[in-house]
Amino acid sequence: MKYIKNILTIDKIPLNKVAKKYGTPAYCYSFSELKNNIKQFKNNFKGINPLICFSVKSNSNRRILQEIKNFNIGADVVSKGELIKAIKSGIKPSKIVFSGVGKTYHELEFAIKKKILLINVESESELMVIEKIAKLKKKIVNVGIRLNPDTDAKTIKKISTGNIGNKFGVNEIEFLKLTKFCKSSRFLNMKCMSVHIGSQILDYRPYKKMLEVVDAVIKKSKYEFDYIDLGGGMGISYEKKNKKLNYKVYSSLIKKFLKKHKTRIIFEPGRSIIASAGILISKITYIKRSKNKVFIILDCAMNDFMRPALYGAKHEILPITKNTKKINKTLEFVGPICETTDTFSKLNNFQSIKEGDLIGIMNTGAYGMSLSSNYNVRPMPIEILIKNSKSFVILKRQKLNEIT
Ligand code: LLP
Repeated sequence: MKYIKNILTIDKIPLNKVAKKYGTPAYCYSFSELKNNIKQFKNNFKGINPLICFSVKSNSNRRILQEIKNFNIGADVVSKGELIKAIKSGIKPSKIVFSGVGKTYHELEFAIKKKILLINVESESELMVIEKIAKLKKKIVNVGIRLNPDTDAKTIKKISTGNIGNKFGVNEIEFLKLTKFCKSSRFLNMKCMSVHIGSQILDYRPYKKMLEVVDAVIKKSKYEFDYIDLGGGMGISYEKKNKKLNYKVYSSLIKKFLKKHKTRIIFEPGRSIIASAGILISKITYIKRSKNKVFIILDCAMNDFMRPALYGAKHEILPITKNTKKINKTLEFVGPICETTDTFSKLNNFQSIKEGDLIGIMNTGAYGMSLSSNYNVRPMPIEILIKNSKSFVILKRQKLNEIT
């Protein structure tokens, strides 16, 4: 994504033209950025030969999943719906892992029928249900057990998952108990130990601690797992001041770990693959001046993009058409929804703008569209993919009559 003659473009396609053709709000994805992110990710873990399972919750557009699949990537799913979408996108069941604390009998039965690579179990009760289904269907089911390593991911509290106070995984004692049970079961094939400590992680040290715990618990289990699933969570720079995750260190820690354990690593990245490939284009409906700031009222809202309202997340906002006139006022970019948290960003020193102008909310490819809703009975936005300097509708804009 770059400015050409002051217009923000993806792959040479000017985004003002995209907005004119397809309307706003519109999620627009760059195939070349997606490709670069995948290349970069693989490169960061060169020499480890991991199985990469894209975390479908971060972006579940069918076309995006198809593109990702073409890079030999599998899927990490958390519901029957995601599993169906992954399979329909052409991802082989033998490359799909299924996580989540509340998989229902029906979902587990479906996953077993589809012969996916792994069901990552998160409780004793779930393991019992899997065994029951396996017995009933006379099948041997591949499972992983998710350990809660009690490791603080040092990220946004609301997206931390690896502390013992979080609902995810099982503690060490329970883990060892469940592994014992699996070893004795004729219907369960224990293939994996899985962990995932949180999302948007920018510090390698939580990963280091996680690996130490994993190492210690494997030793105690006296078992050789075919796979160690280290989850996802690799953070990106949403703001210029964000530091970057030190992949070199993380990767070398894993290499060290692999010297001690003969196993294959699985990663479940979402954000690091797709976040920076997406931009949410929106039009300014009104500009309203108040006492000490100016409200820029957009045609997109928290239903289209939840992260700022939900986590106080900061996303860069860029003008689609750049100029050099600065306004010396605080601008608050807000949506039209009747909630005070329907606000995206407060900015000083933005350029001069007027009603009808277009802006882009950056890095919205992950947890953007996938978290959107029909709140306030607002139709969900269109999704566009730009590939080889051509634009494609990859999800139609929802029509009002579909939801009214
Ligand atoms: N694996 C598991 C088991 C997960 O729970 C998650 C994310 C991932 C992989 C992928 O994590 P990633 O590489 O994308 O960080 N809605 C929040 C993020 C929630 C993440 C939930 N789990 C946000 O917008 O920041």
